[in-house]
Amino acid sequence: MGNGIAHVFAQSGFTAQLIDVNKAQLEKAVQTITRNIDRQVAKGTVTEEQKKTSLQNILTFSDLKEGVQNADLVVEAATENAELKLKIFKQLDESAPMHCVLATNTSSISITKIAASTSRPDKVIGMHFMNPVPVMRLVEVINGYATDKRVTETIVALSKQLNKIPCVVNDYPGFIANRILMPMINEAIYSLYEGVAGIEEIDSIMKLGMSHPMGPLQLADFIGLDVCHSIMHVLYEGLGNQKYAPCPLLTNMVTAGNLGIKTGEGFYKYAEGSRELIVSEKFKRN
Ligand code: CAA
Repeated sequence: MGNGIAHVFAQSGFTAQLIDVNKAQLEKAVQTITRNIDRQVAKGTVTEEQKKTSLQNILTFSDLKEGVQNADLVVEAATENAELKLKIFKQLDESAPMHCVLATNTSSISITKIAASTSRPDKVIGMHFMNPVPVMRLVEVINGYATDKRVTETIVALSKQLNKIPCVVNDYPGFIANRILMPMINEAIYSLYEGVAGIEEIDSIMKLGMSHPMGPLQLADFIGLDVCHSIMHVLYEGLGNQKYAPCPLLTNMVTAGNLGIKTGEGFYKYAEGSRELIVSEKFKRN
């Protein structure tokens, strides 16, 4: 999601310093941003001139220290792994100026825990963007236990500057977005697992009956089944309730490496360059 976050900051006139230890990943990110701005140019919502300015606003760094040394805000968007995030926040705390706010785009890891790994817990906050970041209007702003009220106010104002709509919530497992979304996805997987209905029926019912833009199984593939699985674990462990146990089918698919769009197969099979939704062979019914 880092490229989407850099995209919206750059497009709103901020300098976005994109940092990744992997240089190839940085090149890929800039290519993705260019492609996504091209969509906007094709739609006539962005001019060629604005595209040029936005891309000039993006600088890339493979050295974290160098990338954050003059930052006013860092938005961390590394993979959903608590240990890794704690390590990154320790480094950010050592390298970023003391006034710098350290935000995380985590979808479920405790902001309070991340904040506690730094010497500035009052300046640590959740800034949870939704995928695709340039399209989705929400920023779920999450207050950690120690977050300073003025930091929350700054992040709310900043989110509006990004043309997003901030919603402020408190730091409990899954916050609000995933506390509500993930049990719905998990329940859809349970319904499939128990043979209540097939993939297309489950997704069509939620799309046609509830006006969801994607059915829950398609959405799970879009988010990544590994991410869904890890968020269910956070809910299960953090809230201590059996109702949040990840469905065994979800666990099996993650173990097998069928993670959705990113691996080419989940509940659906994804052919390169095609938008057609084809149910995975694994779930074809006779
Ligand atoms: N960058 C820029 N623009 C993009 C884009 C991107 N990455 N992806 C799509 N778009 C634009 C398209 O150009 C198009 O623009 P116009 O409306 O101006 O024509 C618009 O978005 C719609 O795209 P498409 O026509 O290609 O496809 P669609 O109508 O099927 O919409 C979708 C695609 C926006 C992804 C839609 O299916 C949708 O809203 N899905 C649900 C997304 C969702 O629930 N996201 C949250 C996931 S949870 C999460 O992110 C966080 C977490 O913690 C797990």
